[in-house]
Amino acid sequence: MEPFKIKMIEHIHITTKEERMNVLEKSKNNLFNVPSDMVIIDLLTDSGTGAMSDEQWSSIMTGDESYSNSKSFNNLTKVVNEIFPYTYFLPVHQGRAAEGILSSILIDKGSHIPSNNHFDTTAANILKCGGFPINLVCEHSIDPLFKGNIDLLKLDEFLSKNVDIVPYCMVTITNNAGGGQPVSLSNIEDVYNTCKKYGKKLFIDACRFAENSWFIKQREPLYSDWDIIDISRRVFSFSDGATFSAKKDAIVNIGGLLLMNDLDIFNKAKNELIIREGFPTYGGLSGRDINAMSVGLREGCDEKYLKYRTSQVSFMHDKLVKAGVPLISPPGGHAIYINAGEILPHIPSDEYPAHAFSLECYIEGGIRSVEVGSVMLSITEPDTGETIYPKLELVRFAIPRRTYTESHLLYVIDIIISVYNRAKDICGIRIVESPELLRHFSASFEWIR
Ligand code: F0G
Repeated sequence: MEPFKIKMIEHIHITTKEERMNVLEKSKNNLFNVPSDMVIIDLLTDSGTGAMSDEQWSSIMTGDESYSNSKSFNNLTKVVNEIFPYTYFLPVHQGRAAEGILSSILIDKGSHIPSNNHFDTTAANILKCGGFPINLVCEHSIDPLFKGNIDLLKLDEFLSKNVDIVPYCMVTITNNAGGGQPVSLSNIEDVYNTCKKYGKKLFIDACRFAENSWFIKQREPLYSDWDIIDISRRVFSFSDGATFSAKKDAIVNIGGLLLMNDLDIFNKAKNELIIREGFPTYGGLSGRDINAMSVGLREGCDEKYLKYRTSQVSFMHDKLVKAGVPLISPPGGHAIYINAGEILPHIPSDEYPAHAFSLECYIEGGIRSVEVGSVMLSITEPDTGETIYPKLELVRFAIPRRTYTESHLLYVIDIIISVYNRAKDICGIRIVESPELLRHFSASFEWIR
């Protein structure tokens, strides 16, 4: 059961199927364009969409809005030092700001950055600086409990062949683009040692570090009686720095961090931060946002909360498995990922089966999900111009933190099952117009009827 009770509510506008079909057409068949009051259950993202606690809201009233060295920054420093064992950190307004600053400092034209799977904004920031993101996640069968692990042999081979063009490596916890799957502590340690063998730094994309630590506690016997903060500190100890979007595991609507041990990187990052975000003690955030992030960081590491959070996801997963819907198993920490490629074998990757499935779930029940397939993740090979499609065509239903109840989730489950049952009648999609980078946000689409 939820380890909290509800003090404030937000009304949901219940739309009709006809209204939704009209809205979708006006929105050029892109769910990002759909007005939020035309969405019944919004599972587009778990980022910045969680419900803050009364402690977080009351900390907002005591935010110190001083330009430099505010009390709010002191509060943040205290909790950051408890959880992240790095020498330096900077606040930023959200995760991609940290990624942008890090990439601009460390990436040259032609740099290659290995990771398990880069998230889309991380990949885009690397590409924007002239670099190339490399994904080296393990084949899923190798460790079914830690499907986010990096393939160490591939990493070693890649580094041995490309040592001069790799400025640093990354590991994303949990592995959002690969199904929200966790990475084991032993894999992170091995990745770090492999990086050290080649003299490379390792940065962690720490967006969902607390959920990852929860899975380590459940699934890696050595850590079963460690607490979440100690596990997290150990994870971070096998790295040289981290980017962090506080919109996930710090349960705030805005905020992020860039953390590191290297003084030279810190000094360069500080300069970039002042140009892009603001003075180093506020980094693009108000004092009240910083206070809410400080309280949320501790709440995000609470085991009662993490147990409830991960069981919401597994509740949905288990019901859908029972109904025969193909999806990524075991479930990750923040979302379920439906395998639309398997549900819609008659739609090829260049007709975007996962996008089609997500639109159908909106039409059927007003549920907003996000495509994590060929629209979001296709890459154009720089030498040949060939399109490389991702292995899986997934639709992510991300669960905002502390926001929806079990009956909301049961409604979502019913809708997904009805769309699944009429899969053979669903047709493909074509892109009408799209930008070069991060096209899923703003591309327009039409049905191939
Ligand atoms: N890295 C990962 C693994 C992410 O999931 C995200 C955001 C970011 C970096 C960027 O953080 O949004 O604060 O700039 N993911 C959101 C999502 C958008 O829906 O999964 P940001």
